[in-house]
Amino acid sequence: MTAKRVAAVICQKSQLAGDIFSIWLQVGAMAEIAKPGQFVILYCKDKTKKLGRPISICEIDAAGGKIRLVIRVSGKGTGTEEFSRLGEGDTILCMGPLGNGYTYTGDQKALLIGGGLGIPPLLALAEQLPGKKVIVLGYRDGNTFLTEDFEKYGPVVIASEDGSIGTKGNVLDAINAHEISGDVIYGCGPKPMLRALSQFAGENHMEAWLSLEERMACGIGICLGCAVAVRTEEGITYKRVCHDGPVFNSKEIVFDE
Ligand SMILES: Cc1cc2nc3c(=O)[nH]c(=O)nc-3n(C[C@H](O)[C@H](O)[C@H](O)COP(=O)(O)OP(=O)(O)OC[C@H]3O[C@@H](n4cnc5c(N)ncnc54)[C@H](O)[C@@H]3O)c2cc1C
Ligand code: FES
Repeated sequence: MTAKRVAAVICQKSQLAGDIFSIWLQVGAMAEIAKPGQFVILYCKDKTKKLGRPISICEIDAAGGKIRLVIRVSGKGTGTEEFSRLGEGDTILCMGPLGNGYTYTGDQKALLIGGGLGIPPLLALAEQLPGKKVIVLGYRDGNTFLTEDFEKYGPVVIASEDGSIGTKGNVLDAINAHEISGDVIYGCGPKPMLRALSQFAGENHMEAWLSLEERMACGIGICLGCAVAVRTEEGITYKRVCHDGPVFNSKEIVFDE
């Protein structure tokens, strides 16, 4: 087990959009072993909130011992609201890195496709993935975030549900409108988006690696709270999103009908 708990210091904080915050955490050696697609668990200071909150690693500065996280406040009185109130110099208990992360080689043309809070983990991947790539980002509206960060690493195509920026619709509408093609998909976002990407990958004979989001308790593979059904050659079995994932090959994922 390589995951460690550290009292991480917030060394930089900014507001990216209305309820979305970016924080850089000083985490020491954790940053040296972190990989794109992995996540950390943050613990609340409010002891009535016992379970940690899983948050994807958005960027990694291994030399500086820092990781970047992007957090959306999910409502009043929530753990994510507590995190959003912390400032530079404050500490936060952080366990990680957790999960498997994305597997990549860079010798295929890659489509990095993120929707909403599925966008942040693709930034670390965009940074590290060599070779050709196109980045497709799906937002609800014109309140975009991280777009300029992605533009450093490849062409960026945007979709928004209300049409206020980019193609009106979802990420697949943007892919079709711009006639984007590739060999492999790296995706992260809401379940319906992942289901559509899995179908698109199958129809176009592409490989797809998709990151699943599931409610978590222990985060380290012990409690089985995050188990999901997966398809194997032997039939349907169960895997833990926190330990065996969160990234799975699309052929493994069983989407609800
Ligand atoms: C692998 C993974 C990566 C994630 N990455 C990000 C990210 O980069 N940025 C971000 O803002 N959010 C991310 N989330 C979602 C985030 O974990 C939840 O929004 C957050 O846990 C909700 O906590 P809260 O304190 O806001 O809400 P509360 O209502 O206080 O949470 C109550 C409980 O439900 C759990 N919970 C609620 N929603 C979720 C959820 N969607 N997934 C898992 N547990 C949940 C919490 O851990 C907590 O125990 C990720 C989730 C997973 C599983
Ligand atoms: S959250 Fe406990 S096994 Fe995944």
